[in-house]
Amino acid sequence: MNQLDSNREQWNSRIGFILAAMGSAVGLGNIWRFSYVTGENGGAAFLVIYLLCILAIGIPVVLAEFTIGKKAQSDVVGSFEKLAPGKPWIVAGIMGVASAFIILSFYGVVAGWTVKYFFSYLTGGFTVQDSSEYVGIFVGFISSPFQPLLWQFIFMSMTIGIVYLGVKKGIEASNKILMPSLAILVIILAGYSLSLGGASEAFSFLFTPDWSALKEPKVYLAALGQAFFSLSLGMGALITYGGYLSKKEKLPGAAVSVAGLDTLFALVAGLMIFPAVFAFGISPDEGAGLAFITLPSIFEQMAFGTLFGLLFFLLLAAAALSSAVSLLEVAVAYFIRKFTWSRKKASIIVGSIIFLMGVPSSLGQGIWSNIRFFDNDILDSMDFIASNILLPLGGLIIALFMGWGWKKSDALEASDFGDSALGHAWIFTLRFIAPIAIFIIFLASTGIIKFE
Ligand code: TRP
Repeated sequence: MNQLDSNREQWNSRIGFILAAMGSAVGLGNIWRFSYVTGENGGAAFLVIYLLCILAIGIPVVLAEFTIGKKAQSDVVGSFEKLAPGKPWIVAGIMGVASAFIILSFYGVVAGWTVKYFFSYLTGGFTVQDSSEYVGIFVGFISSPFQPLLWQFIFMSMTIGIVYLGVKKGIEASNKILMPSLAILVIILAGYSLSLGGASEAFSFLFTPDWSALKEPKVYLAALGQAFFSLSLGMGALITYGGYLSKKEKLPGAAVSVAGLDTLFALVAGLMIFPAVFAFGISPDEGAGLAFITLPSIFEQMAFGTLFGLLFFLLLAAAALSSAVSLLEVAVAYFIRKFTWSRKKASIIVGSIIFLMGVPSSLGQGIWSNIRFFDNDILDSMDFIASNILLPLGGLIIALFMGWGWKKSDALEASDFGDSALGHAWIFTLRFIAPIAIFIIFLASTGIIKFE
C-alpha cells in the first residue's frame, strides 16, 4: 500500500459504513420524490415495477458498487482507472461525477424548501383557515425569486460544512441519531394519517394494481429512475463510500440492509402521504409539491401539530443533508485526488459551483417558469436527465463491468460471496438480467416496444 492509500480515511466501524450508506439512500427521494412520482404514475402498478427494479437491478448493482469501492479504495473515476486502466469502463466514473453536480444542484433547491418549512413551524406554523390554502402557500413560496435561493444557500452551506470536516467526523456521526428518529416519526405520522378517513382509498391506490397504467411508456422509466435515485445508485456514491471501508466487511448483507431499509422507508412514507391525499381531496398527481401540500394539512389536524411539523421537517432536512453530503462527496473526492486540492478547497469550490448550477432550477418555479423542455420545468428536466437517463446508464455500465470486466472468481471473492450459489446468481444477474432489463426499459420508454 502506498503512502496516499494508507492516509485515506476509513469508517470507524462496520455499522458506521452501513449507516452512512443508509444515510445516503434515505432522503428526499423516499418522501418527496417517491410520493409524487408514485402519485403521477398511477400508484400500485407503478409500485410493482418499482419493487421489481429494486430486486432485479437495484440490489445487485448496490453490491457491485460496494465491491468496486472496497477493492479500489478510490473515488469513482479513480476506481475505474485503478481496476481497469485504459479501458472504456471509466465513462461510468465520469458520468458519475457529472451526475453528482446535476442531482445535487436541484436536490439543494428542494432541500432548501424543507429547511424553510422547518423554520415556518419553528416560528409558530402556518396560519390558514382551510387546508386548501397550503397549495397557494407552497406555490407562492417556491415561485418567489429570492426566498427559495436563500434557503437553498443555507442548505448547501451546511452540506459543504460537513464534507469540509471530512468523512468520519462529518458524515458518520450525523447519521446515528437522526435517521432512527425520522423513522419513528414517519411511522407515527402514517398511523395518524391512516385515521383521517382516506385509508381505504389510499390502500387501493397503493396496493391494488390497475394494470392499464402500464400501457403508459413513461411508467417503466419513472420506476427505474426512482429506484436508482432512491438507492443513491448508478453514479458512484456507493463506490466512493465503499472506498472508505476497511478490507474485512461482509458486503452482501450490507447491500440488502441498505436497499431493504430504503424501500421500507418509502412504503411507510407512502402510507403517511396518500391517506391524507385522499382525506383532503388532493389529487395524487398534484406533482412535485405533493408532500409539501399534504403534510402541513396533516399537521393542521393533529394535536401538537406545530411541534410535529417542526420535528418532521427538521428530521427530513437532516435526512436530505446526509444524502446531499454523499452527492457532494463523490465530486469532492474526485477533485481532491485529480487536482491534489485540499479537502477544504475542494468542498468549497465544488459546493459553490453546484449551488450556482441549482439557481435556474429554483427560478424555474417562478420567474423562469416559461422555460420548459418537453413541458417540464428546469428542475424536472435536470431530474429527468440525471435520474432517468444518467443513473440507469451508469448502473448498466457498472453491472457489465462487474459481470464481464472482472474474472468471475475475483468478483466473487471481492464481494465476500465466495464460491456460493447466491454469488453465482448475483454474477448471472449482473451479466444478463440487469443489463437486459435496463435496456428494455429504455426501449419501452421511447415507445418503440409496447406492453399491452
Ligand atoms: N438517495 C437519496 C434520496 O433518496 C438521494 C441521493 C443521494 C442520490 N446520493 C445519491 C441519488 C446519488 C442518486 C445518486 O434522497
